[in-house]
Amino acid sequence: MIRSLATYVPPRVLTNDDFARMVDTTNEWILQRTGIRERHIVDAGVATSDLGKEAAVRAIERAGLTPDDIDLIIVGTVTPDMMFPCTACLVQNKIGAHHAWGFDLNAACSAFTYAVTTASQMIGSGAHDHALVVGADVMSSIIDYKDRSTCVLFGDGAGAVVVSAAGEDDVGRILDFEHEIDGAGGPALYMPAGGSLRPPSHQTIDLRLHYVKQDGQTVFKFAVRKTEEISRRVLERNGLKPSDLDLFVSHQANRRIIQSATGKLGIDESKVIINIERFGNTTAATIPLALNDAVCGGRLKKGDLVLLASVGAGFTVGAVLLRWGF
Ligand code: UT7
Repeated sequence: MIRSLATYVPPRVLTNDDFARMVDTTNEWILQRTGIRERHIVDAGVATSDLGKEAAVRAIERAGLTPDDIDLIIVGTVTPDMMFPCTACLVQNKIGAHHAWGFDLNAACSAFTYAVTTASQMIGSGAHDHALVVGADVMSSIIDYKDRSTCVLFGDGAGAVVVSAAGEDDVGRILDFEHEIDGAGGPALYMPAGGSLRPPSHQTIDLRLHYVKQDGQTVFKFAVRKTEEISRRVLERNGLKPSDLDLFVSHQANRRIIQSATGKLGIDESKVIINIERFGNTTAATIPLALNDAVCGGRLKKGDLVLLASVGAGFTVGAVLLRWGF
């Protein structure tokens, strides 16, 4: 079960009007096409492990545990502090989780759903007691602030949960999951350089290849179709209808994607969390940030049936069905 949740966003905010001063855009365009008003951005020198650490420390405390109780750390991110060591090692060291092993999970916007599933399988096998799952990204480190079609979309943030075995008195459960990948979608959303295919060079920098490139419409259509499809599949397997859900928490990439997919599923908007307005697309952090807003707003309570759904670069697609435990 998910035993606790905490999030962290850096204090500095970039508004749509700030972008209107940087590129050829308007507050109206961004708001109408994406639902985003503002996003949080780190100051120079602040990395993914720093955001992850803030969320992790609070999540462990809220679980009533200490860092030494954590035996596994999974960090979902596409913006690791550096190529290696992995960000899980950096977080482990920063929080002092002396008994944990861990690794990074690269599934872009599906990293949180994939990491929750991975952690729950490790806990379910009996191999571990308490897993820390962190979804954290400093998207501002790979965004081209001269490209209006991508720069307005993304923000920085982190979320963390502790996944533990449910006790007899716990109502919380991770009930089921459904995940898939479709590598044919790679060219629709990627960062071309910086890896082994195109190591950094003057040329890759001159060509601005160390930034996110996206074919927005292709990703948009895939996201709407797959969010609906994967949600139906996991619900049907559990004998459930979309209307049985208490809350639907989707990755936050575009308000229109979420509204379109939930409209097709027939989920009432009162059961759908949309908080992209304040954070933009924080990649691995959107789902915990949305869960946190749901908890704080009294829209997510102990015993609620929740579906998490995500579509991200890769393409990666994920859904996790769970009963909320606190
Ligand atoms: O989390 C990872 C997954 N990512 C996503 O799910 C993102 C999916 N895609 C989207 O959310 C949308 O496709 C975007 C928000 C990226 C773009 O919205 P759109 O409605 O698909 O716009 P478009 O790409 O079709 O562009 C429409 C027009 C174009 O101008 P022309 O060719 O019609 O003259 C663009 O150049 O809007 C223009 N445009 C902008 N105008 C003002 C693109 N970006 C901007 C901008 N400000 N920031």
